[in-house]
Amino acid sequence: MKSNNSFIIGPCFKAAALSLGLLVASLSLAQTSKPAAASGKSDLQGVVNAAYTKFKDDSEGKNADYIPALAKVDPKLFGIALVTVDGKVYTAGDIKTEVSIQSISKVFTMAQVIQEQGPESIEKQIGVDATGARFNSIIAVEAVKTVVGTGAPEMNALVNPGAISATSMVKGASADEVWKKISDTYNDYAGRPLTVLQDVYKSESDTNQRNQAIGALMLAYGYIKDNWQQAVDLYTRQCSVGVNAKDLATMAATLANGGKNPVTGRRVIDEAKVPPVLAVMATAGLYDDSGKWLYHTGLPAKSGVGGGIIAVSPGKFGIAVVSPPLDDAGNSVRAQRAITAISNDLGGNPLAAKTK
Ligand code: DON
Repeated sequence: MKSNNSFIIGPCFKAAALSLGLLVASLSLAQTSKPAAASGKSDLQGVVNAAYTKFKDDSEGKNADYIPALAKVDPKLFGIALVTVDGKVYTAGDIKTEVSIQSISKVFTMAQVIQEQGPESIEKQIGVDATGARFNSIIAVEAVKTVVGTGAPEMNALVNPGAISATSMVKGASADEVWKKISDTYNDYAGRPLTVLQDVYKSESDTNQRNQAIGALMLAYGYIKDNWQQAVDLYTRQCSVGVNAKDLATMAATLANGGKNPVTGRRVIDEAKVPPVLAVMATAGLYDDSGKWLYHTGLPAKSGVGGGIIAVSPGKFGIAVVSPPLDDAGNSVRAQRAITAISNDLGGNPLAAKTK
């Protein structure tokens, strides 16, 4: 377990106590360059530890089992990681064990398309609206409306039909070339080379007939231009990439830091292209519970049926929790609870302004 007890904003608050002039200076610094909470606690490791202790024995929820390999993952696995935009890492619990990234991958493939082809490509071909349906709904594809005046579909790249379409948009002369681009992108966000969990890939490939039907339907309706089989296979592979809580938190922190990985210093996506990514996460990151999540945290986030959730506090931190048991909407129960507690303790809600 790695820990780092340094305080992020404590010095600002101490200076503020000394004089009004310093207060003004430290607050404006906090707004422009410092990562920490505007109004929250300053002992980040203490806050992470407290959430770990509070939720350690929470066993509510159930592992996903529609992909057989996911049912075999230890439901007790619980890891928390928080990475600040100045690259400090705070962790608790198991941050070594890898789970499959699953739907969290959708964020980074969408980000890759946005980086390569611009935010308008995703908006026009897939849409950026909530479907109001479950992540693998076929009815949502049948019922999709178009946005008045633009003709863009009311769909998004974080539900399966939109995500398979986004994967099909990554350019490359062969499946291998497309895969290399996708996996290089994930590696850059995580700051280390990630690998596919072969047992999960095989298990999902053997049982993904529903996603194959969705892929074929998306081709029929023109969201996928050609080769839906390749898109479904690469999508299945991207969902099987192994990650631990620290990888996921670093990926989230890269978005929190305007597209530059705060641990490696490598830019992964242009700063101006990060807000559209976060907007879709805020709209659809926890599927049909996205509104409820935003109501309680204000954080753009994304869940995966492997048990991970990432959340982004822009300009402050990225956070991730891995805990496999899910609720009925397909979101990790403990991850939702722990991230909410930690972010609210740290003042991470980007919608909460302090009255001057
Ligand atoms: O396509 C699927 O069903 C899975 N590979 C991913 C689904 C998922 O993670 C939805 N998450 N909440």
